[in-house]
Amino acid sequence: MSAAAGEDGELSPAEARLAMMEIANMISVPMALTAVIRLGVPSKLWAGGANAPLTAADLLPPGHPDPSVLERLLRLLASRGVFSEHNPTGGEDSRRFALTGVGRTLVPSGPSGASFADYVVQHHQDALVRAWPRLLDAVLDPSGPEPFARANNGVPAYAYYGQDKEANEVMLRAMTGVSEPFMEALLLDGGRGLFEGVRTLVDVGGSSGACLEMIMRRVPTIREGINFDLPDVVAAAPPISGVRHVGGDMFKSIPSGDAIFMKWVLTTWTNEECTAILSNCHNALPAGGKLIACEPVVPDTTDGSTRTRALLENDIFVMATYRTQGRERSEEEFRQLGLATGFTSFRAIYLDPFYAVLEYTK
Ligand SMILES: C[S@@+](CC[C@H](N)C(=O)[O-])C[C@H]1O[C@@H](n2cnc3c(N)ncnc32)[C@H](O)[C@@H]1O
Repeated sequence: MSAAAGEDGELSPAEARLAMMEIANMISVPMALTAVIRLGVPSKLWAGGANAPLTAADLLPPGHPDPSVLERLLRLLASRGVFSEHNPTGGEDSRRFALTGVGRTLVPSGPSGASFADYVVQHHQDALVRAWPRLLDAVLDPSGPEPFARANNGVPAYAYYGQDKEANEVMLRAMTGVSEPFMEALLLDGGRGLFEGVRTLVDVGGSSGACLEMIMRRVPTIREGINFDLPDVVAAAPPISGVRHVGGDMFKSIPSGDAIFMKWVLTTWTNEECTAILSNCHNALPAGGKLIACEPVVPDTTDGSTRTRALLENDIFVMATYRTQGRERSEEEFRQLGLATGFTSFRAIYLDPFYAVLEYTK
């Protein structure tokens, strides 16, 4: 039985206590997941596509003193659909685990070698985890520093990544790992007509340039790509044929192009900051030029579906990590932000359960 909004009347008191017990201990799930990723479990199971069910002992170095500790993590994650559990002989020592479809997102599928495993690890680094106990402060002082900055000597997340080589690289891989499969879908049929007539494309907040590289490979009419991000970020980005990495600050100005691509940027900022970014995009475009933004769009109704949960959980992640008043927005809020900045038309295209494509025309 689900305890989603509006359904709690169906629960007996014992079921309600059980549902709360589950929520109270939910942190076990992402922390167990992070541990098994750092132990290399998904790639050992995948083994080039074999995905043969293995025991915890098989997944650890020979002679490990107590594989049952790892087995407990694997069982929890099997209950969450990350692994399938096989118990061929029914004996206590014979539990074997393989990756499910959900688990396979932790294995690289694209050319970069990154996957959702990098995203999970990025989200559970010490500096990010430290922010969570300060979530209360976001409510009490919404215009003050976000929980991440409060927990990390006043340093905001993007500045923190810039100062820490390893955190910067982890962020680049995390963004690539999540972006690649979405970009594959976006780029079906040569980009679904979104990039027609574009010769110079700017990716604002483009991170490693992985999205731009994929677009340029699929849409050969684009002659020049400009990957625009913070100077420390582009300094760590790999060279990409046809792409110029440009370091700068989107709050000051954005390089000009026929069109601008921008993925997962607006959500992390406040309305005032989004207005400044959109306004700089508008200035960088010719008349009739397009801004193609890919952002999560928050649903109007609340339910217990995986989609709603994934979106609302990400909204609170943004609150804890980037900006208390940065947030996921509805389609109407995105429309209003763009029209108020001078864009003349707007449409939203839903081709993925997490990201919507928001097309603004100047
Ligand atoms: C959530 S990430 C998205 C990365 C990439 N677009 C993707 O979806 O894979 C947001 C990006 O915005 C960049 N960013 C943050 N502040 C910026 C600024 N002031 N100017 C330019 N880029 C910025 C970050 O460095 C980061 O790469």
